[in-house]
Amino acid sequence: MLSLRFYIALCFLACGTAAQNDSSLPNIIFIIADDLGWNDVGFHGSNQIPTPNIDALAYRGVILNNYYVQPLCTPSRCALMTGKYPIHTGMQHYVILNQEPRGLPLSEKLIPQYLKNLGYATHAIGKWHLGFYKKEYTPEHRGFDSYIGHWTGVLDYYDHSGTEKELWGLDIHQGLDPLWDLHGKYLTEFYTEEAVKTISHHAKTNKIAEESGNSTKPLFLYLAQIAVHSGNPYNPLPAPDETVDKFSYIKNYKRRRYAAMLHWLDKSVGDVVEALAENKMLDNSIIVFTTDNGGAPAGLNDNFASNWPLRGAKFTLWEGGTRGAAAVWSPRLKKRGRVSNHLMHITDWLPTLLSAVNATDEIRTNIDGFDLWDTLSEDKPSNRSEVLLNIDAKDSVAALRVGEWKVIIGNSLNGSRNSWYSPIHSDYEDNNGLILTSKVSKAMDSIGYPLTEEQILSSRKEAIVICEPENLPDDIKESKILCDAHLKPCLFNIISDPCEKRNLAEIYPKKLEEMLHILDRYNSTALPPSNTHLDPNSHPRLWDYAWTNFGDKTPPSKKDTEKCNDDL
Ligand SMILES: *[C@@H]1O[C@H](CO)[C@@H](O)[C@H](O)[C@H]1NC(C)=O
Ligand SMILES: *[C@@H]1O[C@H](CO)[C@@H](O)[C@H](O)[C@H]1NC(C)=O
Ligand SMILES: *[C@@H]1O[C@H](CO)[C@@H](O)[C@H](O)[C@H]1NC(C)=O
Ligand SMILES: *[C@@H]1O[C@H](CO)[C@@H](O)[C@H](O)[C@H]1NC(C)=O
Ligand SMILES: *[C@@H]1O[C@H](CO)[C@@H](O)[C@H](O)[C@H]1NC(C)=O
Ligand SMILES: *[C@@H]1O[C@H](CO)[C@@H](O)[C@H](O)[C@H]1NC(C)=O
Repeated sequence: MLSLRFYIALCFLACGTAAQNDSSLPNIIFIIADDLGWNDVGFHGSNQIPTPNIDALAYRGVILNNYYVQPLCTPSRCALMTGKYPIHTGMQHYVILNQEPRGLPLSEKLIPQYLKNLGYATHAIGKWHLGFYKKEYTPEHRGFDSYIGHWTGVLDYYDHSGTEKELWGLDIHQGLDPLWDLHGKYLTEFYTEEAVKTISHHAKTNKIAEESGNSTKPLFLYLAQIAVHSGNPYNPLPAPDETVDKFSYIKNYKRRRYAAMLHWLDKSVGDVVEALAENKMLDNSIIVFTTDNGGAPAGLNDNFASNWPLRGAKFTLWEGGTRGAAAVWSPRLKKRGRVSNHLMHITDWLPTLLSAVNATDEIRTNIDGFDLWDTLSEDKPSNRSEVLLNIDAKDSVAALRVGEWKVIIGNSLNGSRNSWYSPIHSDYEDNNGLILTSKVSKAMDSIGYPLTEEQILSSRKEAIVICEPENLPDDIKESKILCDAHLKPCLFNIISDPCEKRNLAEIYPKKLEEMLHILDRYNSTALPPSNTHLDPNSHPRLWDYAWTNFGDKTPPSKKDTEKCNDDL
């Protein structure tokens, strides 16, 4: 301890206000779920699938109720990692395909790179989807000390083969190496176990360092769970049968399987928080839980999520595709146990987390994210008044939120996801009991952060979206004013009409004009989308049936390949 103080004192003298390797810096645990819908967490009001651990975290922290993500995986994760809108990294159209020789540009500095420079130990587990064709694009070359997980968008939870069209290959990697020996292991559970191991290993390493008079490190753990993305077509909603059986009260079979997948995601949050408490790291942690994009309901993408009552789904710029389920907890948040209605975007995490660790000086000035730490911590007003939801010139779609207004242009996927997808009701009754006895509650109670049923009820009431407009003039309130965004831009007032039922474009033409003008301004700064050709050198059959960093490798000669085929 003495030497640590001495070190800090030295640094204080020598480094001035510069970043310090200070063991008092909080651990940052960033948990990102895949394709989780707005209505799939209990804290937004659903009683169908209990998420007691996620809820126990959210109710104790700050529920982010006006928080936007990108409508798809790659762009959302790019926005998170860089603090930039996807139009500013060329990632605004679709996702990185397995066969594409591209990735998130190497000129970008990612969250783990910032944190590593500040002295963090940085570990990533789970989905990457930011490019892998050359090793420079993979996590261990982009700021993470270690990585174990999948690189691509879709894979089987048990055999871990990533598929794209007719191609398939193993896609679970440690660093660059495929892991062949995990066959049959349920991936959500595996990632959780890896996260728990990482936490206890980190604590041990710090203890040894401290005992030998060395400085300790804070932890940045990026846990990008596979759940609740659908799996490969031969097993689209993978979960152990015993878990599926627990949800027999859910009548729809596919939704029941989805519930089982979600159960393992919720358990993951419980196990991670429990591990933090056991290793005495919890009271010095910031824990973020967020989805990457809206859910895919009603069999879309083979999945059964729910964004109800929001409109649309994953892929679309409707609220159901972009308004994300998320919460943050930390003892460092000064006002906890509340719902925040401040506008926030996934790009805000980078500057906000750097601000939380006193490193605002490090933030590059050319990012789109805002530092919302004081907003999250103290409910202070923020500088974020608008969110660009996307401009995708290839698909001719765009959307922008400014204050309470939202403009939306064009039809994603030919308008096939413009609807509201009702949940099939069959509810579980005793949600609150589960929350109060969850692993997260036990861990938090043990370090002095209790939760009451009253708190649950009041936050939950506030976090539920009510569709019926309250502040609209009566004549508008009475009618549904339809939108065909394919023909003309639509305008919605999201505060009074969060479910996007009343297109106000013709009633407020000036407002529409103003919004389109702002959109044009953003559009003039867009980079061309970086989507590119498919490279046959990527095909897993050339690489022992694994996805690999094919751009670094010389393809086996045609003769070798033919010989290989002959042998077969
Ligand atoms: C903090 O630690 C990192 C990694 O150990 C090191 O590269 C960096 O120079 C250190 N920064 C300071 C200010 O000591
Ligand atoms: C302590 O730090 C020194 C100098 O960086 C290093 O050589 C040594 O291995 C460290 N010891 C432990 C136990 O981490
Ligand atoms: C950041 O600085 C403030 C004021 O200087 C201090 O109170 C706080 O503890 C610091 N936070 C961290 C994470 O070091
Ligand atoms: C908000 O913007 C003002 C004016 O540019 C700036 O002075 C202030 O520091 C900003 N606040 C935050 C939290 O970024
Ligand atoms: C889009 O929808 C229209 C109208 O339903 C249909 O005629 C057209 O074939 C669709 N286009 C595509 C590419 O699916
Ligand atoms: C953005 O600009 C591109 C090319 O300059 C154009 O094709 C597209 O229609 C514009 N999109 C919007 C939403 O203004």
